[in-house]
Amino acid sequence: MFHPALSLALSLVVLFSFTPASVSAASDCTTIITERCETCHYKTRICRKLGVKSKGQWKRTVKNMVHYGAELNKDEMKMLVTCLDTQDKSIVNLCEQDE
Ligand code: HEC
Repeated sequence: MFHPALSLALSLVVLFSFTPASVSAASDCTTIITERCETCHYKTRICRKLGVKSKGQWKRTVKNMVHYGAELNKDEMKMLVTCLDTQDKSIVNLCEQDE
């Protein structure tokens, strides 16, 4: 027999393990930057290169960062390179926020 508090706790665990936050795939560029890039350096390193690098250069940079240890899969890399190259609004907004 389950104690009511225990089964409540169990269902909460089950519930939370299915919330998007615990899924490893990042769904947007802002999340990738804050959760995968800022583990090593501030976003300012990224922000000051917006509008400076070509798409090819961003590709190389992101690839380099993955070699350093950034955890991005192929789709996330592609998405991020596009956001950086096109100066996506979400990134511009993120860069305008304080550290
Ligand atoms: C494992 C640590 C690490 C992670 C994670 C990381 N970086 Fe870096 N990054 C570095 C280091 C070290 C440097 C300085 C050396 C260099 O320039 O290559 C750097 C420098 C940079 C620079 C400035 C140099 C240049 O080439 O313009 C940019 C832009 C950059 N990182 C972007 C990113 C992005 C975007 C991400 C997320 C996908 C990221 N970094 C994640 C370690 C990391």
